[in-house]
Amino acid sequence: MQKQLIGQPILRKEGLEKVTGRARYVDDLTFPEMLHGVTVRSPIARGRILGISFGDGIPWHEFTIVTAKDIPGANCVALILEDQPYLASEVINHPEEPILLLAHADKYLLEEARRAIKFDIEPLPAIFSIEDSLQKTEVIWGEDNVFKKFLIEKGNVDAVWSQADFIVEGEYETGAQEQLYIETNGMIAIANPAEGVTVWGSMQCPYYVHKALIKLFGLEPKKIRVVQATTGGGFGGKEEYPSIIAGHAALLAWKSGKPVKMIYDRAEDMAATTKRHPSRTRIRTAVTKEGKLLAAEVDFTIDGGAYATLSSVVLSRGTIHAAGPYNWPNVRVHSRAVATNHPPHGAFRGFGAPQSIFAMERHLNKVAQTVGVSPEELRRRNFLKPGETTSTGQVIHERIDLDALLTRALTLSNYHAKKQRFAEFNAESATEKKGIGFATFMHGAGFTGSGEVYLASVVGAEATETGKVRVLTSNTEIGQGSLTIFSQIAANALGIDVSQIEIAQPDTANVPNSGPTVASRTTMIVGKLVESAALGLKQTLVGSGLLGETYSTEDFAAACRAHLTKHGELKSFSKYEPPPGVHWDDEKYQGEAYGTYAWAVYVAEVTVDLATYEARVDDFVALQEVGKVIHPVLAAGQIEGGVAQAIGYALYENVVWQNGRMINNQMTNYIMPTSADLPPIRVYFEELPYAFGPSGAKGIGELPMDGPAPAILNAIEDAIGSPVNRIPLLPETLMKVMTAGVANG
Ligand code: MOS
Repeated sequence: MQKQLIGQPILRKEGLEKVTGRARYVDDLTFPEMLHGVTVRSPIARGRILGISFGDGIPWHEFTIVTAKDIPGANCVALILEDQPYLASEVINHPEEPILLLAHADKYLLEEARRAIKFDIEPLPAIFSIEDSLQKTEVIWGEDNVFKKFLIEKGNVDAVWSQADFIVEGEYETGAQEQLYIETNGMIAIANPAEGVTVWGSMQCPYYVHKALIKLFGLEPKKIRVVQATTGGGFGGKEEYPSIIAGHAALLAWKSGKPVKMIYDRAEDMAATTKRHPSRTRIRTAVTKEGKLLAAEVDFTIDGGAYATLSSVVLSRGTIHAAGPYNWPNVRVHSRAVATNHPPHGAFRGFGAPQSIFAMERHLNKVAQTVGVSPEELRRRNFLKPGETTSTGQVIHERIDLDALLTRALTLSNYHAKKQRFAEFNAESATEKKGIGFATFMHGAGFTGSGEVYLASVVGAEATETGKVRVLTSNTEIGQGSLTIFSQIAANALGIDVSQIEIAQPDTANVPNSGPTVASRTTMIVGKLVESAALGLKQTLVGSGLLGETYSTEDFAAACRAHLTKHGELKSFSKYEPPPGVHWDDEKYQGEAYGTYAWAVYVAEVTVDLATYEARVDDFVALQEVGKVIHPVLAAGQIEGGVAQAIGYALYENVVWQNGRMINNQMTNYIMPTSADLPPIRVYFEELPYAFGPSGAKGIGELPMDGPAPAILNAIEDAIGSPVNRIPLLPETLMKVMTAGVANG
């Protein structure tokens, strides 16, 4: 009998390869006659290119030089709006914008050459803040600097203000954040008119790169091949950006006729590639004196940077998550993504939700204080319950009990006793203040609304010559453990040993398009397709009489081999079908925004040092309902990593901008928390199986990014008695707030 695989911490599929150094990342690959490539970038934020000069002392004839004029197809990065060029030719819209590409066999000479190129640019006025963009201080994109707007309306917000006992208003801001994947962006390309274009590299979404290269080269899809190399982290930072570096490497390869490798160093990666969108949220709420929420009006704006990229979808997710897991009878969320002259902001774990959830979870503590109830009581009186509806009118069908989830999280963190003890401690202490706070939230898994229907993802499974099962998917292992999870799901579905499962390398010449590796969709959406594709193999074998109703792993392998002998191949494909009852109105922004949500309560305990004004998280409880845990170690790892990243977002990671450029673009001065800065992160799961996830699993990749920042700032308010509503919250801000009584929101 096959032992139960789901819920077991089996060995990580690629673990041995990674720990022994055998895994081959893109920079480990090399090709005969390979050149290295670099990008020469704009030194300023906005301007008109007048000329390019090539300095003395460089053997320029040895170099491959590519400008916009060398592009064989369209000079635009195919994504959503196609406003971003691969290489700027006339106008510059952000610092570090690519203008010219260079390739040479000697990396060091290449670096000297890069520095010897000077651009003559006539500067144009630039804008760097949401405020300036909204005010149209300068119109830099379209007619009004607005990439996208959304409006969600439920009930009648305007009718409620006059009945409210309290009206509470607040403004909340979040900063940019760098993904800081361990491996920087990198690609290798081979490209020529006869064979087409092939790229190998670090990425989340091979078919996004594929689509972009088709447009850039004006070639048929069959002439473009994209292969994922072992990838050292992504977090969204390798969602859209790899299309750019892949295109650049391929343009150099096309012109030079040689393989070209481009690897960014850390400084370039930090300065030039996407980061999390900064945001500003204004919330106005109506509430009764009993603490019943009557209405919310949320105004949510994100800074998209200079080009549209993925801002519209980041905005969408942020907009839908803005109202939180509460039963608002009336709510209006209006939102916009605006242009600035920053490098484009992009996908980053959470995808807009961490920003708007930060605002709402801080705001509700303000509401609680205004009404005179505890933050806990306020939430309990307003939690969404089964049968009630979210801001988009989605009826909650699952039996989620947020009251019970909150009770458990507060018990696990010893919240009430600590709150009491810290109040006593703070009254006495002149050196430190302590506090405890929490946030409650939800995160929808998979593409928003009809997104999964449009994606129409496909996964395949095939029998190998030795009778193993190979899963064919374009979803990528980026450190999150998808190879292991897919193996567990396939082996479990077939009732065979997990060692019998292989996962094909994501290669667009060999795997179907199963959609991008984003949006917490890999386990829940793609995993379900892995399960059904695997079951398709079994059905064929049973149907043809090669396999009985009960069988061993060996019987299954023998049946596969017998089928191959007879028919040459055994393959099965499965295509996404939406679960019944999921309807989304993309115009009105109403309906089932997601198939399901994961639900969570996070509790943070903090100490603020009164000498240095440093805030430190001392303990962290992360409790979440996730449908079903497929692999307990990987699931806990996802939560721990996300919480750590979000602690950085809240307290440490500060992008310092100067005229639109990140100037602290090194890991020595962009401070992220190390293990020494992190508390014990205590992870707990609850399981309410989701009928349309594999074995009931929901997506959890982004969830842990949403809750820590508001939980920590709620704890800091508990410690110091003053509200702070902007992150990152650095010691210098805390000092101002605590010494001068400067209000910060
Ligand atoms: Mo993402 S931030 O959905 O890779």
